[in-house]
Amino acid sequence: MPVPIIIDCDPGHDDAIAIMLAAGDPSIDLLAITTVAGNQTVEKTTLNARRVCTVAGITGVPLAAGCTQPLVQPQLVADDVHGKSGLDGPQFAEPAVDVVPEHAVDLMYRILTRHPEPVTLVPTAPLTNVALLLTRYPDSAARIREIVLMGGSTERGNRTPAAEFNIYADPEAADIVFRSGVPITMCGLNVTHQALATPEVVARLEGLGTELGRTCAQLMTFYGSTYRRLWGFASPPLHDPVAVARVIDPAIVHCVDASVAVELHGHHTRGATVVDLHGYLGRPVNARVAVTLERELFWDRVIGAVDALGKRTT
Ligand code: RIB
Ligand code: CA
Repeated sequence: MPVPIIIDCDPGHDDAIAIMLAAGDPSIDLLAITTVAGNQTVEKTTLNARRVCTVAGITGVPLAAGCTQPLVQPQLVADDVHGKSGLDGPQFAEPAVDVVPEHAVDLMYRILTRHPEPVTLVPTAPLTNVALLLTRYPDSAARIREIVLMGGSTERGNRTPAAEFNIYADPEAADIVFRSGVPITMCGLNVTHQALATPEVVARLEGLGTELGRTCAQLMTFYGSTYRRLWGFASPPLHDPVAVARVIDPAIVHCVDASVAVELHGHHTRGATVVDLHGYLGRPVNARVAVTLERELFWDRVIGAVDALGKRTT
């Protein structure tokens, strides 16, 4: 049976592929897409989500815009990584998909309370919307099967040496989520850096022979140029689809149980995820932490989903 999910995102090149994987893979029932301020302003991440749904032919999936800024600190964007639009590279047609007239948090709650079974949340962005959902609607927690998020790291960060962007952009929101008691799977940089969109991957996307395949190849080409310039990566890591892949088939992403705490007060470490992999501190386990990616299985699912969507739209 397909797993019902809501993806909460900030497109974002890797979010774009995560949306396509969620919409194109038969193991997922994509109930809604929600957007939040993160890689860019929520206006831009929402326009980008509309663009992705249009180019991928994703229709009939409610799309709602969410929080315009973090819970406490000023908004941070990642225009150095994703460009001024938040999805630089390809030229997109005028979006044919529009948003629904309700806030993302209200859409999430409406779906969670009406869906016949608990729903998996897949946040691939700062956790502002999810934290607000749990705070505004505490009864929503019982309707969440699990939260499978892209964020944090068992090792170094990327926005700072200590902190990964999604957590660093709204540490208070992340702290609320990790302390919520809802089952959490954390897909951090330590595992998403195993998902490198190499030239072979880009060639497979181009080789699909569809407009969507070409668009994805163009997204990876731009994204690769920024990762090369900023961090010296030969190929860019496709972070967000790893969280979706974990939902599709847990065998693709191996996890271990650990306690995870979010640093809120460190002068140099704010936004770090402190992952006690060996239980030194004796704190209760509050997360499954992803550690290994089955690369071939992962890319086969990603490219298979883009192929399935591309064949419907060409
Ligand atoms: O650190 C990587 C994460 O930050 C990804 O979700 C990327 O899209 C950005 O939001
Ligand atoms: Ca993202």
